[in-house]
Amino acid sequence: MENPVEGKGACLIAGCGYTGTRLARRLLGTGPLLALVRGATSAAALLGEGIPAAAMDLDRKAPPPLLDLPKDLASVVYLAPPAGVGTEDLRLARFLVALGSARPQAFVYVSTTGVYGDTRGATVDEASPVAPQEDRSKQRWDAERRVVGWCGERGVRSVILRVPAIYGPHRLPLDRLRRGEPVLRDEDSGPGNRIHVDDLAAACAAALGRPVSGVFNVTDGAPESMAAFTMRVANLAGLPAPRRVSWAEAQSVLSPGILSFLRESRLVTSRRSLELGWTPRYWNPEDGIRASLVEMGWNPSSAGR
Ligand SMILES: NC(=O)c1ccc[n+]([C@@H]2O[C@H](COP(=O)([O-])OP(=O)(O)OC[C@H]3O[C@@H](n4cnc5c(N)ncnc54)[C@H](OP(=O)(O)O)[C@@H]3O)[C@@H](O)[C@H]2O)c1
Repeated sequence: MENPVEGKGACLIAGCGYTGTRLARRLLGTGPLLALVRGATSAAALLGEGIPAAAMDLDRKAPPPLLDLPKDLASVVYLAPPAGVGTEDLRLARFLVALGSARPQAFVYVSTTGVYGDTRGATVDEASPVAPQEDRSKQRWDAERRVVGWCGERGVRSVILRVPAIYGPHRLPLDRLRRGEPVLRDEDSGPGNRIHVDDLAAACAAALGRPVSGVFNVTDGAPESMAAFTMRVANLAGLPAPRRVSWAEAQSVLSPGILSFLRESRLVTSRRSLELGWTPRYWNPEDGIRASLVEMGWNPSSAGR
């Protein structure tokens, strides 16, 4: 694979966790790379598979400038989530300060479709207005604006990828199914999109390699409710189907995090994916779940077909 990163310099992947690691594996060997994480254990794991990595906690009040930055920084992919409470992303703000005078050619920021807010199942695309409702979505909107502002001042090409729920190997609700956790019944929940982690990594690589800028929705093409997705996982994994509960019962049996997620629903489409030169390999969750289970060494049931 040719180096998808424009220019000759290095690519910095900040917040190189689940998605970042898969992106790093794609980019490894195509050009210089540096992965940034919070903890020494995560850095050691990346180094263990040959990915150059450094640890730096961006939640420290004044993280030092990134002195180890490659001088010829070509691009940044930022994948760390916002920290804690409030409506601002101060973690990202500190990262931008730590970049010092670096002036990459491209900055890719991975955001969420939560910035569109709750549309009660109506369709959103990149032209739709943002209306973040939950604090975590307001933090994302704050982060997007910070990235666009920072890049604008420096003449850096910026790409915002808005993504729905990420799933893939080791990111399936298998533990919840094993624990017998119920799901919200379809009548009480709206549709939602997802993205397989490898499709997201491919979209990040595409955003690095193409001279595009602005907002792109990065989503699969077959939205379904969380209950339908979880039932599909259970079916393919050969686990018992979860009990379906009403919204009223869900208040006492589902976690606050899941309830907050379920309060919003929207259908996500993209009118710009062709520009990005990207289409999801896992257009529907059935194929993505199967591939994930296979990678985890499972033998997906044929019942789902
Ligand atoms: N999960 C979803 O369904 C979903 C949906 C939409 C968007 N997103 C967003 O997409 C992005 C990628 O998601 P992911 O699941 O790949 O993320 P992830 O696996 O949770 O990885 C997060 C990364 O950020 C690093 N990080 C966290 N706090 C940090 C700090 N204070 N200083 C420096 N680095 C820090 C972590 O380092 P350590 O490992 O050392 O802690 C880790 O490398 C995230 O922004 C996520 O919120 C997720």
